[in-house]
Amino acid sequence: MKVLGIESSCDECAAAVVADGREILSNVVATQIPFHAAYNGVVPEIASRKHTEWISGVAAGALEQAGLGPGDIDGVAATARPGLLGSLLVGLNFAKAFAWARNIPFIAVDHMLAHLYAPRLVLPLAGPGTPAAAIPPDYPFLGLLVSGGHSIICRVEGFDDITVLGTTVDDAVGEAFDKVSKFYGFGYPGGAVIDQLAGAGDSGAFRFPLPQLGKPSREAPGGDPSHRYDLSYSGLKTAVTAQLEQFRVKPRAKATQPEFGHGMLSEADKADIAASFQKTAVEILLRSLFRAIEDTGLRTVVTGGGVAANTYLRARLAEKKDLRCVFPPLELCGDNGAMIAGLGYQYLARGDRSPLSTTASARVRAFKH
Ligand code: KG4
Ligand code: ZN
Repeated sequence: MKVLGIESSCDECAAAVVADGREILSNVVATQIPFHAAYNGVVPEIASRKHTEWISGVAAGALEQAGLGPGDIDGVAATARPGLLGSLLVGLNFAKAFAWARNIPFIAVDHMLAHLYAPRLVLPLAGPGTPAAAIPPDYPFLGLLVSGGHSIICRVEGFDDITVLGTTVDDAVGEAFDKVSKFYGFGYPGGAVIDQLAGAGDSGAFRFPLPQLGKPSREAPGGDPSHRYDLSYSGLKTAVTAQLEQFRVKPRAKATQPEFGHGMLSEADKADIAASFQKTAVEILLRSLFRAIEDTGLRTVVTGGGVAANTYLRARLAEKKDLRCVFPPLELCGDNGAMIAGLGYQYLARGDRSPLSTTASARVRAFKH
């Protein structure tokens, strides 16, 4: 069964064709980053307008790349939640119209479940020497979903069966990367920029606080169980941005340009801030993740979302030789249509269908907060 997957939840306009939920026949991702970069963040109104302009061309590109015509598609899947409402509606309605016009089944899927599905996909062979596809992890496993909008630690029992164990009580981890980068004027999107800058920095140069969620207290000596796996990024974000003021009042010996202001930090200052922030941001994730591993006994972790591309996070998890950590290939970490088509296939193969009255939702289903 060949499924066309449509993704438009944020700033990537994407479509892909996947055969039998596994083999990627095409994967087209049109990024809107240049249109949002001037604002240092995604502007929802621009995003939905760009999706409207691009969606037909992107879907046509996915069919062409797969060497298929519309008549070869057996089913259509689209992201219905979570995401920017106006953006979601564009892809969702395109997919519904495609399915209606071709008289083929339609299924609406959850974007976060799709990120967890990414490691089950096989990229097209790029030529001789391309490594064989990784063996998909068996259920159950732990999911670490880390993106610009979400930070979720969950227990995954099946493609449509997850239990959220912990999530952020304030900002998402990717959002913290983006906001810190914006504040320091490093560039957009912040995650990749900070990841790169951090490579040359000293991660011990600044000590930023870890959140106190789930910490043992007199009432709960084992820690507050309701927050045991939760995350928080607002304190870190505040501490890192407050450091900019410190550069002015107390210039560092290393600094070559101690004056206050964006762009006035030395290269060493920038790299040290990036590395110290990144280390703490990852530490926050790992602290909760390791608790979940300890409590559940699950030793397989599947990562997903844009932050799963982070070099430091990957290195820290790779150190844990007693864990199986599954990282999707970089092109499947960020938003894409292939993960939507792959997940959609599983529902369609089971006989599930979504009505054409299905609408979009900005929120994650079964979210704790
Ligand atoms: O999954 P995604 O592409 O879109 C959402 O669903 O949000 O994730 C985008 C997020 C952004 O916050 C971006 O800064 C972050 O992923 N990101 C990274 C890296 N690459 C992208 N964060 C840390 N390190 C990276 N290398
Ligand atoms: Zn995503």
